[in-house]
Amino acid sequence: MDWLKIIHLLCVMGWMTSVFAVPRAIIYWKKEHDRLGEFGPTGDLTIRLYRFSAMLAVIGILTGLWLAWAVWDFAPWTHIKIAVVTILAIHYVWTGKIVMRAKRGEFRESEFFLRVFNEISVVFTIAILWVVVVKPF
Ligand code: HEM
Repeated sequence: MDWLKIIHLLCVMGWMTSVFAVPRAIIYWKKEHDRLGEFGPTGDLTIRLYRFSAMLAVIGILTGLWLAWAVWDFAPWTHIKIAVVTILAIHYVWTGKIVMRAKRGEFRESEFFLRVFNEISVVFTIAILWVVVVKPF
């Protein structure tokens, strides 16, 4: 199971990169769009980052569920972890909606909103790490 945990951690690290970077990248993408008046390289990079990490998120979640089942027999702490990861996944889907709209040239969210939105994901990530390290139940 050590390799399963290594794959889990690798995929989760890749997913987290985009969880933290994409909302911030959209701020720069909007500035670029205002300057160029069209789709530029920042948009391209943001979309690629989002898509690649979405694939890693799926593998990270599947390996996590596998570990929870095979090693921990779905102990109570794994339920809390699954619940908080679900919130983070919803946050990522929401990020995806903002990315798709930005691709069409629509930037509805303010810079302030995107910054706060970005920080919220940090709070959920800390909660996930606390649950898996402390295993309170
Ligand atoms: C549904 C999704 C997930 C499930 C069911 C899950 C479940 C698990 C399980 C059962 C372990 C093994 C714990 C151990 O043997 O000590 C583990 C390890 C770990 N997971 Fe997840 N995980 C998920 C998603 C995530 C996410 C999104 C993150 C990061 C934000 C994450 C971070 C970690 C870390 C850092 C470890 C290593 C902890 C240690 O070895 O002490 N996991 N996960």
